[in-house]
Amino acid sequence: MIARPFAELASVGTAVPPGVLTNHDLMRTLDTSDEWIVERTGIRERRIATPDQSVAMLSREASAVALERAGLTPADLDAIVLATASPDRLLPSTACDLQALLGAHNAAAFDLGAACPGYLFALTVAEGLIASGQSRTVLVVGAEKLSTITDFADRSTAILFGDGAGASVVRPSSQPGRGLLSTYIGSDGRLAPLLYRPGGGSSDPISEKVVCERSHYMKMAGREVFKAAVRAMAEACDEALTRAGVTADQIDLLVPHQANLRIIDATAKHAGIPMSKVMVNLDRYGNTSSASIPLALDQAVAEGRVGPGSLVLLVAFGAGFTWGSAVVRW
Ligand code: COA
Repeated sequence: MIARPFAELASVGTAVPPGVLTNHDLMRTLDTSDEWIVERTGIRERRIATPDQSVAMLSREASAVALERAGLTPADLDAIVLATASPDRLLPSTACDLQALLGAHNAAAFDLGAACPGYLFALTVAEGLIASGQSRTVLVVGAEKLSTITDFADRSTAILFGDGAGASVVRPSSQPGRGLLSTYIGSDGRLAPLLYRPGGGSSDPISEKVVCERSHYMKMAGREVFKAAVRAMAEACDEALTRAGVTADQIDLLVPHQANLRIIDATAKHAGIPMSKVMVNLDRYGNTSSASIPLALDQAVAEGRVGPGSLVLLVAFGAGFTWGSAVVRW
């Protein structure tokens, strides 16, 4: 077995649509309040794409930034792994649309469905592609247009989600010790009905009934999801640290999935990481599922909270249930 790190994150780039939907905007149509949403979730506003801003187009914008920062062109890519829970179409993959938009003609492109930890699952796949010698330069993307699968008449979910995209170039580790020191992914499909889209897939294809029942939108048992998220995020932090052979006090920044500030607080407390070392930007973007970690990571890099040599812990949880974590030496 070759020793890690096999692969490093050469860059991160992001894109969000300009349209902002605030808690006050939601109060016009829902029985809710800014105080309730901020206190229970930490979210103040989220970005919403227009009909002509597709997941592939947001992904192209984020990917162009990531490629430029890595000093590469689309022709250098030999794989594109795009994580999404809100693909533009069910066939073909959004990754193939992105490949065409970028002109990344040398890449194999495919989507990955793992909900909110999708970017971490995609990083894990990219690491494997590189370690096996299958690929050298992989574009990992987490991109969502959750506004199209959110029921804006349901106050328990409408307040949570937003749109956005993040991308990273992943390549063979360029320096000893730099890159992905550990990755960890897990799932429990028995809990699927706690957060799911019942209709619109091949088991209940889109129909008048599906639309009338609004079952093509996400349904969630919030309290159960909350408890499971706290448990899974805590366990995933422990596992990534153990696999990397590092301790929590060595971590420079924890970048958790941005779903709920109370889940983030509990995760940091369990890991023994002070909130001063935790990246939080869900107040501005809400839960953007697979785009959430790259959006937070990109902001952390821009603010100088992550730089060369930083030790970063990434952790996420989502529908499935799925969870994942990674320790990265930047
Ligand atoms: N505004 C005002 N009141 C609301 C509300 C809203 N937007 N949404 C729900 N409520 C009400 C409920 O109807 C309930 O009222 P009742 O006591 O009269 O029945 C009350 O608030 C408590 O509801 P509950 O669902 O227990 O609230 P909560 O404290 O668990 O908070 C969530 C709800 C959704 C914010 C919280 O459960 C959560 O964040 N869960 C995790 C969701 C998540 O992160 N999902 C994605 C995972 S990747």
